Amino acid sequence: MEKLVIEGNHQLKGEVQISGAKNAVLPIMAAALLVEGETKINRVPNLRDTRTMAKLLEMLGAKVHFSNNKMMIDAMKVDNPVAPYDLVNKMRASFYVLGPLVARCGKAIVSLPGGCAWGPRPVDYHLKGLEKLGAKIELEGGDIIAKAKKLVGNKIRFDFPSVGATGNILMAAVLARGETKIENAAKEPEIVQLCEFLVSMGAKIGGIGTTEITIEGVNELMPQEISVIPDRIEVGTFLIAGAALGKITLKNTIPEHLSVVIEKLIEVGADIKIDKNDITVKRGKKINAVDLTTAVFPGFATDLQAQWIALMSIATGSSIVTDTIYHDRFSHVPELNRLGANITVEGNSAIVRGVKELIGAKVRSTDIRASASLVLAGLMAKGVTEVNHIHYIDRGYEQIENKFASLGAKIKRVSIDD
Ligand code: EPU
Repeated sequence: MEKLVIEGNHQLKGEVQISGAKNAVLPIMAAALLVEGETKINRVPNLRDTRTMAKLLEMLGAKVHFSNNKMMIDAMKVDNPVAPYDLVNKMRASFYVLGPLVARCGKAIVSLPGGCAWGPRPVDYHLKGLEKLGAKIELEGGDIIAKAKKLVGNKIRFDFPSVGATGNILMAAVLARGETKIENAAKEPEIVQLCEFLVSMGAKIGGIGTTEITIEGVNELMPQEISVIPDRIEVGTFLIAGAALGKITLKNTIPEHLSVVIEKLIEVGADIKIDKNDITVKRGKKINAVDLTTAVFPGFATDLQAQWIALMSIATGSSIVTDTIYHDRFSHVPELNRLGANITVEGNSAIVRGVKELIGAKVRSTDIRASASLVLAGLMAKGVTEVNHIHYIDRGYEQIENKFASLGAKIKRVSIDD
């Protein structure tokens, strides 16, 4: 086990190279199952989650080679369409293999994901969508067994524009017979990139980037090469750090993916400059308290809510941060309060009363973004903060301590047995 030890209250200054997006590469890796050939993916972040997905693809029969942020997936053979509990339990995004497996093999056995650190997170839209495409779905011993000789296109309407369900149905529908229409589809940049990747492979998809996607099934797809989009959540995390602690330039971003975050940081008082694909953030004279509500893209991402609360904890005044995507994603709040923050949770809102300073303490991560929020708070706090259970942060941030250290932060990874 490892922890991050942070001596806080140091200015940050310099440049950070942004990694490829975790939530874009995971469905792309699953999509590689759709084609009998070699998929090449560039700018793959070396994360626990990408390594877990690689392991899963290997268990399914594919060959995976991953080094220097390049991944090669040879899916000539996919002969074991089973995603076991151990892997799905470790990473919910394993569920992304369901659609491609049914499309490719006519059958999939994928463990039903359980609850997670912040609630039940059901997969009913994925399953109802696949049923609409003609799959027969059963639950046996905690596993979803989905079967379909040949999927057939249909109209599917989600009650909520779920990212995962949109991705899964897209990957199932590209090889189905006839037309599928997804209404109330997700339009997150990661879904747009998945669509573009599938199109490059020969899929016929219309309405990309809108809430109504149409897919005309094709008989086969061709292997392709792709470079993963920059991780907008990593960018947002560093932007928030800069707004609190100095001046940081984020290299190779897509600024349009962060429009709302940038607007909100300007309200906070930060100075932001955009130069093509680079964004520079500089702390303002004071940190204004700014309310926000998370929403689907292009709204403020739930995956930046915890980091925003860390910033608001040292703002001048009080703010209300509401999460409409996950109503109880607030496990970071008690940990931030251990650092001296003054936050209460009421329903799906956190009421953050800004304090003058945070004071270092021992805290523990509970999920990927909660961990990032604790790292940010540790960097802002006076004294030493120890962030424990950092395997969560390693799921979603590539070399976070090295990136912050290169900006002048005093942060190091320490083995717990030291
Ligand atoms: N939902 C259902 N039924 C479903 C699917 C979703 O009720 O079948 C609900 C969820 O409970 C939630 C809402 O719909 O309230 C949105 O969930 P969504 O399906 O969009 O989330 P996801 O696909 O499971 C992805 C990201 C998450 C991110 C959410 C929201 C990946 C691998 N994960 O999850 O990222 O929070 O979209 O943007 O893309 C993270 O990176 O830390 C992370 C959790």
